[in-house]
Amino acid sequence: MISRALTILIAGTGRLAAILAKAASRASASDTIAVVGRNREARDALIAEVPGLRTGELDWASRADLLILAVSPQAYPDVLAAFAPHLAPKTVIVSVTNGVALETLGQWTANPVVKAIPTTAQAVGCGAVPVVAGPAATPADIALVKGWFSRFSQPFDVNEADIRVASNVASSAIAVLALFARAFVSANAARTDTISPASLDIMIAESLIATGELLRQGHSYETIIHSTATPLGVTEALMRPLAEVAPEVCVRMVEAGFVRQSELQSDPKS
Ligand SMILES: NC(=O)c1ccc[n+]([C@@H]2O[C@H](COP(=O)([O-])OP(=O)(O)OC[C@H]3O[C@@H](n4cnc5c(N)ncnc54)[C@H](OP(=O)(O)O)[C@@H]3O)[C@@H](O)[C@H]2O)c1
Repeated sequence: MISRALTILIAGTGRLAAILAKAASRASASDTIAVVGRNREARDALIAEVPGLRTGELDWASRADLLILAVSPQAYPDVLAAFAPHLAPKTVIVSVTNGVALETLGQWTANPVVKAIPTTAQAVGCGAVPVVAGPAATPADIALVKGWFSRFSQPFDVNEADIRVASNVASSAIAVLALFARAFVSANAARTDTISPASLDIMIAESLIATGELLRQGHSYETIIHSTATPLGVTEALMRPLAEVAPEVCVRMVEAGFVRQSELQSDPKS
């Protein structure tokens, strides 16, 4: 836990920059948070939307505790080069992408680097954030990054070798569950004339939240499945088509993620 006020510079004005700026501003009024980006219109819109968010410039890097690189992986070398003359030696560079290997980042900067992979969950002030020690990062640097993220999420220490697995489960899973939920709701919507799509969306949201809360409170997958799907009942029958294909489909999904990450790390423009 970090009790002192921090100065945070977010580079980028896209989706992740917006999520982090909003979550961090809501979580701590005492931190100074600024955003810097080449897209002035997007930057000004974000500043207008987020109370307390400041307009950053490159030279803010000289007083920032953390510089969050919330830009596309392809932009990392250019953005880091632009900040290089302004960086204080203590400023921790936070990489938010698996598209650039930590080793490569170490060749581009002498500053401490820590990887932290945020998720859409931070938009609602929760979610797991895998954190990996990068080049030149000391335990104090890692504690600083985790301390900031713990204001609006749950950071987890992870080895670089396992970052894909952690990112799959902490982050990609949110999109996977949303994709499944949309298909499940849509199949059910086709069988009703009286329940509105909006009502079905609320019902599935409650089911997703309840599943997460049951898991968080220590209920096992098996307990949740067996307490919901009674033997020979409707839910068990409904689940059978998914149960038959899910293990193999999930293995293929994980493999596809590993392949794509290797492609991106060997050629970020691919
Ligand atoms: N979205 C998520 O939930 C999420 C989760 C975890 C990690 N990430 C990571 O976060 C990073 C940003 O993702 P995003 O989803 O926020 O993407 P995005 O919405 O497309 O935003 C990308 C940002 O990068 C800027 N940018 C692109 N090329 C640039 C360049 N050459 N120089 C300076 N700025 C440049 C863009 O500026 P312009 O508007 O001017 O193009 C924009 O501000 C990526 O590395 C991604 O892997 C995202």
